[in-house]
Amino acid sequence: MAVFFMNKNAPIGIFDSGIGGLTVAKAIRTLLPNEEIIYFGDTAHMPYGDKSQELIQHYATKITHFLIEKHHCKTIVIACNTASAAAYEQLRDQFKGNIPIINVIDPMIEAVISDNEVHNVGIIATKTTINANIYQEKLNRRKPSLSFAALATPLLASMIEDGFYNNNISKAVLEKYLSDESLDGIDSLILACTHYPLIKNEIDLFFNHKVKLFDSGLVVANKLAAILRNESLLADHPSPNKNRFFVSDYTESFKYATKIFFDEEVALELQNIMD
Ligand code: DGL
Repeated sequence: MAVFFMNKNAPIGIFDSGIGGLTVAKAIRTLLPNEEIIYFGDTAHMPYGDKSQELIQHYATKITHFLIEKHHCKTIVIACNTASAAAYEQLRDQFKGNIPIINVIDPMIEAVISDNEVHNVGIIATKTTINANIYQEKLNRRKPSLSFAALATPLLASMIEDGFYNNNISKAVLEKYLSDESLDGIDSLILACTHYPLIKNEIDLFFNHKVKLFDSGLVVANKLAAILRNESLLADHPSPNKNRFFVSDYTESFKYATKIFFDEEVALELQNIMD
């Protein structure tokens, strides 16, 4: 069992299958600039979205141990809807409340159900997230008056990870998915994959700015801030350490994305944690 370091100036561990979680990490950095971030992108196993629950649980457990045991993180943010759907409950039970573990789904559900402008919401996500039925069940249970439509958009995360956004390829793929008749008449859309904020503008253009778009960044950062405040775990001075970015396989697009996202030259550290 892990040794827990509940030091308020310890880093926050954030992980995703790849660059998607950087959209959450960016919001956290903006809201909580004193905090040090240790990010893990499991690029060797990306995409998670077509993998089994067991396999995703296996990867998520290894990564969480790495972040807690090697880097003494004070809290873990699962910055991936797919891993949140497949592995959050298992991780939460495994760490038995010793360390806060935050998923990206619950804060998003809260944001959507408390927004009175939302009546007919679409959900787009990876196959694993849609098939887990978790958004659909939670929305149904928490706000039965809401209509929703869930659509798997399996090509999007890999497309973005490979650097295809804001170009003709992403435009064509998006047009194909978003014109699906199940999304007819939606007034809002949950971007239920942390990769999708990178194509948020393109999605907004497709809908002519008429559909309200929800993405995880700010809602998850707010949730994290509230939890750290509650647990007296907010850093009390700016971290003297640089944020660190680990990947399980080196990719150029990850390096590029970290640079544009964090406005800093990022030294990617290759780390194999699966042995
Ligand atoms: N960014 C991830 C998500 O939120 C996963 C993408 C993938 O690896 O399939 O679902």
